[in-house]
Amino acid sequence: MCGIVGILGKRDAAPLLLDGLKRLEYRGYDSAGIATLVNGSIDRRRAEGKLANLAAVLEGSPLAGTVGIGHTRWATHGVPSENNAHPHISDNVALVHNGIIENFLELKDELGERASAITSETDTEVVAHVINMYLDEGLSPKEAVAKTLPRLEGAFSFVMIFRGHHDLMVGARRGSPLAIGYGEGEMYFGSDALALAPLTRRICYLEDGDWAAVGPDGAEVFNEAGEAVDRPIVETAVSGAIIGKGNFPHFMLKEIYEQPTVIGDTLATVLNPASQTVTLPPLPIDFATVPRITISACGTASYAGYVAKYWLEGLARIPVEVDIASEFRYRGAPLPEGGLAIFVSQSGETADTLEALRFCKREGQHILSIVNVPESTIARESDAVILTKAGPEIGVASTKAFTTQLTVFASIAIAAARARGTIDHKREAELASALSEVPGRAAEVLKHDEHIAEIAQTIAKARDVFYMGRGSSFPIAMEGALKLKEISYIHAEGYAAGEMKHGPIALIEDEVPIIMIAPSDALFEKTASNVQEMISRGGKVIFLSDAKGIARMKKQAVPFACIELPAVDPVVAPILYSIPVQLLAYHTAVIKGTDVDQPRNLAKSVTVE
Ligand code: F6R
Repeated sequence: MCGIVGILGKRDAAPLLLDGLKRLEYRGYDSAGIATLVNGSIDRRRAEGKLANLAAVLEGSPLAGTVGIGHTRWATHGVPSENNAHPHISDNVALVHNGIIENFLELKDELGERASAITSETDTEVVAHVINMYLDEGLSPKEAVAKTLPRLEGAFSFVMIFRGHHDLMVGARRGSPLAIGYGEGEMYFGSDALALAPLTRRICYLEDGDWAAVGPDGAEVFNEAGEAVDRPIVETAVSGAIIGKGNFPHFMLKEIYEQPTVIGDTLATVLNPASQTVTLPPLPIDFATVPRITISACGTASYAGYVAKYWLEGLARIPVEVDIASEFRYRGAPLPEGGLAIFVSQSGETADTLEALRFCKREGQHILSIVNVPESTIARESDAVILTKAGPEIGVASTKAFTTQLTVFASIAIAAARARGTIDHKREAELASALSEVPGRAAEVLKHDEHIAEIAQTIAKARDVFYMGRGSSFPIAMEGALKLKEISYIHAEGYAAGEMKHGPIALIEDEVPIIMIAPSDALFEKTASNVQEMISRGGKVIFLSDAKGIARMKKQAVPFACIELPAVDPVVAPILYSIPVQLLAYHTAVIKGTDVDQPRNLAKSVTVE
């Protein structure tokens, strides 16, 4: 969601803040701003739109000062505009905020006359005025913050600076992540370690409810009860190197092409090629006796969970419930004693997933998370973590995080099946070997890029597109539809192929593209029949299968186009079939001329519910 950086330093802060914001821009990009202390006074520059607009403003009107805060916004309350952009100022305080203050209207009422000074439509500005009210009452900045925080309802991380206080910067977190960075005679705040990586690797992650007062020589940290606490300073592995696109026109394409490597890197942590077995890190449960697994996640990560349901139920015979976290967290689902709850998240910060995790913890479940950011809140609050080794994913549409999540889930399913005795060593070795071949097969799939780009010409003209599959291909259909929607803005739906005739088939007419995900598996013939139903109603079927499947299909009816994928064990097919649907969405978006890496209305890490 929004990105936050704060610097209490010795050098000009504005260029460093801008640089930090560039590394966070993928989190939100509808407006941005910076405020610094200049001779004790607060000065500010803001701009609507991409960070480049703020950079241009700063070029025309530079901002001095060695103490400052910066923000890149994803709008919640108030339209994207310069006026609603952070930092927000009230006389003696400037602050940046990530999250939502749910009781901002009540607080505004309480401000009385003072509320007339509010100029934006945001929930954030009210907080600046509340703090300023306490400052006017004679409280010190730290006292004013300590008095304000308990009055706020909702989720937030804040960083603030105070007029006349060159040696103070305050940060607070509840629900949204915030870290302190320790430099050489400089101190920083960042909404994630990525923003601070070029400045320092020495990071202290605030716990939920913490707030911290930072001075030139260090930080005092307080917990929600206001008690001084010690939080460890860790050395982060996040690289400070500029994350570039290399020779690729977009991060998304670069990340699609990284998949053979990052799937291999992920496999290297769980697969033992010599013994052809899967070795997971120590887990809080025994798969042999676990009564049920509950998987919870959002968006693309939830589709990884849906694929896992097919694998865990089919291979290991463990009952699995999958739910999107925003529903699950409020559903009050009854959970079995000794159950395992698995949370999947690239960022490890998604608010709904985190709250679903906390619900399961309260209900006594064992917590395992599959995350891409080792220091993330979800990782830190879990009993055990299996990391995806995708590396930083900058494109807002998730690609390599998804296939590495699938890779981890496939390994879990194999380990669980072994523990329950539902597969023998021979089958385990077969599956381990099929998994170990995925990186190579993924590289073969990428060779279809040009052909897929040609097919995208047809998709780009469509108003509606359907994606269909059966079994573990059904979640890949949903993922394909989501990818197309989010970056090309074309309406798309992912359906279980067998469900079409229960209603949605009414929408199939001449020229409607249908992406059929049909590896040669036990359900192939059924899917082929569904393809016939689509073709006979004028649908333009784009058929994704292996050579055998394509030949079998063509004997029955000839699809509009076929994409031939390598023949693999059906268990690993979902990992490989994800790649062409990503490429199809990517090329369609490029043809449509959308902002592929930063599509409208989206943000990379959704830290509000
Ligand atoms: C879609 C996409 C989102 C995320 C979702 C969860 O391309 O990226 O649907 O998958 O917002 O995010 P994480 O995985 O960070 O919890």
